[in-house]
Amino acid sequence: MGQRVPHVTGYLTEHFADDAFGTLAGYRARGGYETARRVVTGMSPAEVIETVKASGLQGRGGAGFSTGLKWSFMPAETDRPKYLVCNADESEPGSFKDRILLERGPHQLIEGILIAAFATGAEKTFAYVRGEYAFPADCLERAVAEAREAGLLGERIFGTDFRHDIVVVRGAGAYICGEETGLLESLEGKKGQPRKKPPFPAQFGAFGMPTTVNNVETFCHVPHILARGPDWFRSIGTEKSPGHTLFGVSGHVVRPGLYELPLGTRLDEIIFEHAGGVPDGKKVKGVIPGGMSMPILPAGQLDVPMANEYLRERKTMLGTGGIIVMNEDTCMVRVACVVTYFFRDESCGQCTQCREGTGWMNRIVERIERGGGESEDLAVLLDVAGKMEGATICAFADAAAWPVQGLLRHFREDFEAHVRERKCPFPASFEL
Ligand SMILES: Cc1cc2nc3c(=O)[nH]c(=O)nc-3n(C[C@H](O)[C@H](O)[C@H](O)COP(=O)(O)O)c2cc1C
Ligand code: SF4
Repeated sequence: MGQRVPHVTGYLTEHFADDAFGTLAGYRARGGYETARRVVTGMSPAEVIETVKASGLQGRGGAGFSTGLKWSFMPAETDRPKYLVCNADESEPGSFKDRILLERGPHQLIEGILIAAFATGAEKTFAYVRGEYAFPADCLERAVAEAREAGLLGERIFGTDFRHDIVVVRGAGAYICGEETGLLESLEGKKGQPRKKPPFPAQFGAFGMPTTVNNVETFCHVPHILARGPDWFRSIGTEKSPGHTLFGVSGHVVRPGLYELPLGTRLDEIIFEHAGGVPDGKKVKGVIPGGMSMPILPAGQLDVPMANEYLRERKTMLGTGGIIVMNEDTCMVRVACVVTYFFRDESCGQCTQCREGTGWMNRIVERIERGGGESEDLAVLLDVAGKMEGATICAFADAAAWPVQGLLRHFREDFEAHVRERKCPFPASFEL
């Protein structure tokens, strides 16, 4: 089972070591679907939305938007069908929490979706699963079939007029199909190219219908909030960022894997106490705190609580909670090569700044790594990155610029040493 079960568990993952929890019978034995029953038979949709708003739940897909507020944007009075999308595209390098939620707790996700569907009046959910996630998609499909068989999906759920169904859709492996409107285009069978906004999905979403897009983990918190109440949820985490989240820790640590902890847990506690620190007695050089698109932090700044209000002060963000640890041997120019190669490859190409900027940054950092860089290159890199920010159809270009800016902010000396010595001065670093 190994890394498929979190090292530290909490309300989301406490039963994940039990294989039966993935089945309908095992989930029901732990009280599963009782909260959805209580909600659907005893609450109004508006009350559910108010409860989720009051809990302060923020989306766990990267942007951290208020979930209750997003649900309230769905038009209440409309004769058009309304849809939910469960975003299981999870392509952010360093992030693997949704995979484990799909594999080990698919009924928890379905219960969260049911409650969200009741609150927003959605008749169908499209669960869009990353193409490479064949096994997680199988797990979800199996659970959806079980739920349908048991009457938890379909018509007259819990003996009421409420009806809902879930369609599992498999992507074809493109990072940009995680961006919600790129996802919607792909779902409709088109090229995964993000849409200009407005209109936002709540007005014009999947197949032109009102749609709410939420991340897998976001849905999974919902049954717990409805079961124990918003005050319980707010008692965990920080005032501005309540609840637990799943931190995926990878890179140079003794115990890589998933850790369910309160938001606001300090980054150094996660790395050194939970993940066992850096192997072979080496020191940390830098840490990406929230998946590859979030700017890196240097070793001296790891005392930060992992919540956006604190991370922003250090010019980075929580993103998807994917923590990538790099030891003292790491060449930060090679890191820049990996990061820029990824974004160059994954840009959908619609916006000039993004299409050209990602390739341009990649060519510069690869030249610097090979020893052919000039001192002006660093200014050009920053100039290109600056012109990509906030200037494009979607936030992909920002996500490509931020890590490069972060690497230059904290590890400029690595870049300068390459230019000065006309070679890479870190022979012990990982190989490209
Ligand atoms: C380039 C890019 C990639 C994204 N990839 C994902 C993804 O893989 N999974 C995800 O849930 N959200 C992803 N997002 C965020 C989604 O656009 C959207 O904000 C999110 O699914 C909303 O769910 P939430 O409110 O529950 O966080 C991505 C955003 C961008 C700009
Ligand atoms: S910013 Fe990049 S990924 Fe997003 S729409 Fe423009 S070209 Fe495509």
